[in-house]
Amino acid sequence: MPFIKFPLSKAGKLSGLLFIAILFGLKSFAQQTRQVLDFDKGWRFNLGAVDNGQKPGLNDAGWRALNLPHDWSIEGKFSKDNPATPEGGALPGGIGWYRKTFTVPASSKGKLVYIDFDGVYQKSDVWVNGHHLGFRPNGYISFRYALTPYLNFGGKNVIAAKVDNSVQPNSRWYSGSGIYRNVWLVTTNKVAIDHWGTYVTTPEVNDAAATVSLKIRVRNNSGTKGAFNIKTLIYDAAGKVVSTGGAIPSKANLTDTIFETGINLTVKTPQLWSVENPYLYKVVTQVIAGKMVVDEYTTPLGIRYFNFDADKGFSLNGKPMKILGVCNHHDLGSLGAAINTRALERQLEILKAMGCNGIRTSHNPPAPELLDLCDKMGFIVMDEAFDCWEWKKAKYDYHLFFKEWHKRDLEDQILRDRNHPSIMIWSIGNEIPQQADTSALRLAPELARIVRSLDTTRPITTANNDPGKNNKIISSGAIDLVGYNYHEGEYAAFHDRYPGKKFIASETTSGLETRGYYDMPSDSIRIWPESWDKPFTRPGNNVSAYDNVRPPWGSTHEATWKVMKKYDFLSGMFIWTGFDYLGEPTPYSWPSRSSYFGIVDLAGFPKDVYYMYQSEWTNKPVLHILPHWTWEAGKTVDVWAYYNNADEVELFLNGKSLGVKKKTGDDLHIMWRVKYEPGTLKAVSRKDGQVVLTKEIHTAGAPAKIELLADRKQIKADGKDLSFITVKILDKDGNMVPDAENLVNFKINGEAFIASVDNGDPVSHDSFKVNYRKAFHGLALAIVQAKEKASSITFTATSNGLPSASIIIKSR
Ligand code: GAL
Repeated sequence: MPFIKFPLSKAGKLSGLLFIAILFGLKSFAQQTRQVLDFDKGWRFNLGAVDNGQKPGLNDAGWRALNLPHDWSIEGKFSKDNPATPEGGALPGGIGWYRKTFTVPASSKGKLVYIDFDGVYQKSDVWVNGHHLGFRPNGYISFRYALTPYLNFGGKNVIAAKVDNSVQPNSRWYSGSGIYRNVWLVTTNKVAIDHWGTYVTTPEVNDAAATVSLKIRVRNNSGTKGAFNIKTLIYDAAGKVVSTGGAIPSKANLTDTIFETGINLTVKTPQLWSVENPYLYKVVTQVIAGKMVVDEYTTPLGIRYFNFDADKGFSLNGKPMKILGVCNHHDLGSLGAAINTRALERQLEILKAMGCNGIRTSHNPPAPELLDLCDKMGFIVMDEAFDCWEWKKAKYDYHLFFKEWHKRDLEDQILRDRNHPSIMIWSIGNEIPQQADTSALRLAPELARIVRSLDTTRPITTANNDPGKNNKIISSGAIDLVGYNYHEGEYAAFHDRYPGKKFIASETTSGLETRGYYDMPSDSIRIWPESWDKPFTRPGNNVSAYDNVRPPWGSTHEATWKVMKKYDFLSGMFIWTGFDYLGEPTPYSWPSRSSYFGIVDLAGFPKDVYYMYQSEWTNKPVLHILPHWTWEAGKTVDVWAYYNNADEVELFLNGKSLGVKKKTGDDLHIMWRVKYEPGTLKAVSRKDGQVVLTKEIHTAGAPAKIELLADRKQIKADGKDLSFITVKILDKDGNMVPDAENLVNFKINGEAFIASVDNGDPVSHDSFKVNYRKAFHGLALAIVQAKEKASSITFTATSNGLPSASIIIKSR
């Protein structure tokens, strides 16, 4: 289909002369449409205040050279006296300055240059060549500054950014500090699609065809009227064009700086995006002057439809399903807040393998890469804006900026994120203290209006810790989904309280576990702390991994899932949390400095309850037994099994049957109480008498060797890619030693470095940024980061008294 040409503007019907002038003006752009440069490399950093750090002439040669993304807090020392407090991860904050000197080619003169920050924590001021570009207090928001008027084309330029995370506590979890997300330098022609300038929706979808509606904002900064065409092409995943069309501007007067236009295209027999098959199309929009493409802009497209029904719950593409989600904070464990796409992808891979299909970006806009990955990997996202409105949770948190900034921040979040097919819920707040106050009657509708002015295709929710009748957010009528945080005992009566309303479990569970640590007996529930305001202490700061410890507001994993699976109208859940995170070390405080809530620990090692979900949420055959089998003789040990796809499990100790057990009623595990004797514990699951799976664990002897397992042995030599190396301490027969704490030293040969180390211990105060780690319950982790030169990387681990071990990773 040919594209449609814009009608000429009324004034003067655009003389041929003018048109030619524009063509000439644009000629130099013809080679290139827009350029989006990774601007992460070659920065200088100074920790601490600097007088006039923005001055172009300042000598920053003595500052530390580094590449972004960067989080300076993660490099610091843990201390209970850091103003972030253990709740914020007990790492230092402060003020940091970043500078980058760069040249802009003379050939860019006449073009528009922008700098895009994906996120800076927090209170950033940015200057170019001494000119102040702006201030953004929100540490999670993405923002752009126009640089053009202040640049030396063909010469040197200096970007300077001051980041102020000195006034704390300003967060209830670890925030990180610095330019911790990616930065981009964007160069466009004077006529170009605006920042976040497209909006794609699929108003009609059926087997035969999908209507793809695209709204486009074009910025014409050329100062002249012009005749431009807009052409849009939709590519399928194989790169084949499946639809083309042109658009007419809604206003014919093309001298407007911004004009908006829209187009509907059709994709025949569309492949639908789903969590099992996250099929992605790509929409490419071209702005064309004469015969030249002056801009090209890509918008992701997933064709899907979904519905939340008050009675039937959630459905995707007409198929009923539950959102089986987790909440995560943004830190990447030992890497801190510094975004790394592979680290995020690994987290999602681990969650996907558990059967998880949803992510809540608690409690802030995420890195854009997370949303790209969710689009690509098939996760349903609840994209959340705020943890507070006008009333504070932490003394210096966003409540200080809410009044002035909420509109801008929320608009920017929706504009940035609304094209992601993975996003199916907007959340305008988590446990907003004002939910109990009449001010919510004003604010909830205002925030909902802001969202709806930019997107009406997803429901809006808030995550409410008091979902009862006193909740003014809910009673304001502004939200589409009633979000319950916890209160699983009240789910069943939801429609008595809110007849006809739609439900989402915006946050659940908060079960507590330390990986690899077990207290007996296992069949009683511990409520730690006893109440939220009572300090809780216990030697060792461990929590049993039997899924039987919870805070007073939360539940065990099993308790909430049992209710959740019972009722169709319960559209889904977001468990607190998928991964452990820095900060909020409930039930403890210092010396603990990271959470116990994760289904997976801070290093990325699953805790046992991971397999409960896997047995329930996937069809993959599961048989997992816990705990380990290395105890003092004579101890009574509770043996649990999580299993699926089988009728029963038989347990054997040293060849002797301890009996057959099966889940009855709503059981999610089975248990044997066993008098411990060393040897082999073996479980066999059977269906119709046939063996489904067999699992054996053995009593471990003394540490005798190190095993290294890389999640990927082949990585990209792009300076960013990672290989996650699990370090296991084994006995001479290859059994993991469950309480091994050996100190392991790491060495790298080749074009790579150790980005960080960890072991999942919430109490360790060792730095993450060193080349050694003690094992914790037998395991440690080293994260190897590629440099930019292809090589064969030898990673070696040594430990006193053990033979060294090596593994080779190739980067290319
Ligand atoms: C919730 C809160 C989360 C986290 C969690 C811990 O109430 O929304 O941010 O604090 O408790 O259990």
